[in-house]
Order: sequence, then structure tokens, then C-alpha cells
Amino acid sequence: MDLLQKLDETNSLTKEEIVRLLKNMTAEKKEKLFDLALKTRTRYYGNRVFMRGLIEISNYCRRNCLYCGIRGMNANAERYRLSESEILECCQDGYNLGYRTFVLQSGEDMWYTKEILVGLVTRIKQLFPDAAVTLSIGERDIATYDALYKAGADRFLLRHETASRELYEKLHPGMSYDDRMGILRKLKQIGYQVGAGFMVGLPGQKEEHLAEDLLFLKEFQPEMIGIGPFIPHSETPLKEEKGGTVEDTLVLVAFSRLLVPEALIPATTALGTLSPTGREQALMAGANVVMPNLTPTLFREKYDLYENKICTGDEPAHCRSCIERRINSTGSIVDLGRGDNVRFIPEK
Ligand code: SAM
Ligand code: FES
Repeated sequence: MDLLQKLDETNSLTKEEIVRLLKNMTAEKKEKLFDLALKTRTRYYGNRVFMRGLIEISNYCRRNCLYCGIRGMNANAERYRLSESEILECCQDGYNLGYRTFVLQSGEDMWYTKEILVGLVTRIKQLFPDAAVTLSIGERDIATYDALYKAGADRFLLRHETASRELYEKLHPGMSYDDRMGILRKLKQIGYQVGAGFMVGLPGQKEEHLAEDLLFLKEFQPEMIGIGPFIPHSETPLKEEKGGTVEDTLVLVAFSRLLVPEALIPATTALGTLSPTGREQALMAGANVVMPNLTPTLFREKYDLYENKICTGDEPAHCRSCIERRINSTGSIVDLGRGDNVRFIPEK
């Protein structure tokens, strides 16, 4: 059987088959792959694309991931941190614009203690009970994840970054591959809808590594999958590296859709940064989420994970209408609801 047909019909492939497909991707095969991915997305979610309001609450970080512009050792990063009232204000603005998911993202900023975070999540859920809260704040102890879930947090994004132990250890000094993978499994057990994901175009990354990423996703079955191109940042040790391409990233987005058909998959900002139509192309290759920015414009350009990040000067209302236009241009419609994974049965 043709490998693409097998992928579509069985939602699975072996590592060897994935590598073979990735190494022999022609324009014609890509077209078929994207078409199958879009059809699969439509089967599970119709032509709806979900919008999440992203709030970048702090760019302080205790880690030193080699690729990341806000790594702790970047002395030239101008640091900022939003207070609880500033975050609540962002949520209120987002709520008024129609958002019903808030994604709170930051570096690993330990200023936000368990108590502060629990207070914050509790307050957001009191003020906006029909909205979902997604956290993307990195690695914490299990007691903190537990307490935040009990306080009402619904989802947690923690990309695995790369499923190759060797690459992971090279890129994350002082961090542990087993910790990262262990935390992802724990988050699921606690009850969160969990997001994993990886970067495409990392130095030393080969088709075999990408196949391992895809097979990890298949086995782990995350509710959300974030995939973006690696974009070098001039204040990091990887500044001279080449980085990932839109073309390669789209292929991995489409594969992920076919291997984990019910996943919520964002058309990432990193894709929009590399190409003006990167996010639209991702929506046509199986993605079904976009995350416009609600961070106050004053702070946005300080959250520079990579160079030339888009939309840093735009007001939330502008982003909202800009993205809606982009979604509509792909033949999809905006869904402003909570947008839970179809597999997910809420307990709360
Ligand atoms: N600290 C949290 C964590 O570790 O999950 C969340 C924030 S972190 C900055 C969010 C994501 O940005 C990372 O998971 C990584 O995949 C992505 N990222 C960081 N630097 C990047 C770069 N140079 N190019 C593309 N993506 C990058
Ligand atoms: Fe912000 Fe387009 S998404 S201006």
C-alpha cells in the first residue's frame, strides 16, 4: 500500500516508513499529505478554527536552553513581569474580544510561587467561569501542578522540544530528558489536557529524530501539539545556525494531524514569523488553533524568543481581526468557544 494511504487509513506508520517518506517528499506527495491532513481535521472539528488569547506574563527564566532568546544568561534581554492585576486586565480585554481560553506563558520564573499562581488561577476562574485557563510556565514540582489543577487550570503546554535524548541533553544544559517526559505523563494523570510538541530544524536534527518526535506523539496522545520552526536568535549560542523552514514544518504539522487525528494543533507564531502566510498554510495542512497575543504592547517585544517575532506592535483588537481575516481566507470559520479536545470529557 502507498505509505500516505496507509498513514491516512491506519493513523500509524513505523519509524522506518516515516523516515522514508520524509526523505522522499516531492511536491506532489506534499499536496496529497496536506489534503489528507485537512480532511482529517475536518472530520473531527469541521471547518472551525479555535482562537486562544496568549498572555506572555514574564520573560524571566532560570533556564538556559541554547536556542531561546529569553534564556537566563542573555544579559541583554530586558526583563519584565506582569502583576496579577495586569494579567487580570489582559484577561478582561480578551474576554471582551470574545476569547474563552487564556494561555498564560512565561519563562521559568520562580517569582510566581505556587501560592501566587494558585491565587491567580482561582481569580481568573472566578471572574471568567466559562473560560479555560492554559498554563505554559515550564517545569515545577508536582505539588504545584496538582494545586494549579485543583484551582481550576484546565490545560498545560510543555513541549517535549525533541524526543531524541541526545539532542535534548545537548540543547538543555542542566535539564533532564527523563524529568521532561515524566512531567508530561504526570500532567496527564493529574487530569490536564496536555500539549507536547517540538521544534523543526534544530542543529543536528535528522529525519530519524523527527520520526522519533512523531512516534512519541502517537504513543503519548497529547490533547494539543505545538510544532514550530527553530528560528536562531542573535543573543544565543545557536545564533549562527540555519534554523527550520516553513516547508519542513508544514510537513510535520500534517503528519501530526494524521497520527493524532483529534489533536488541537496551533498554526504557530514562529511560522507566521518566517512567512507572511505561514499560519494560513499551516491551517491548510491540518492545524486548527491560532493564538493571537493579548500581552500589552509595551512588553511584547521583550518576549523575543527568536528574531523578528511578528505582531509585537499590534493592539489585541487588531490582532483579533487580523487573525480572523486570515482564518477566513483559508475557508475556515472562527470558533471562539473554549475549544476542548473532542476526546476530552470535562470533570469540572
Ligand atoms: N518556559 C516554558 C516551557 O519551557 O515550556 C514556556 C515558554 S518557552 C519560551 C515556549 C516555547 O518557545 C518553547 O517550548 C520552545 O519550543 C519555543 N522556542 C524557544 N526559543 C525558540 C526559538 N529560538 N525558535 C523557535 N521556537 C522557540
Ligand atoms: Fe497580530 Fe496579525 S496577528 S497583527
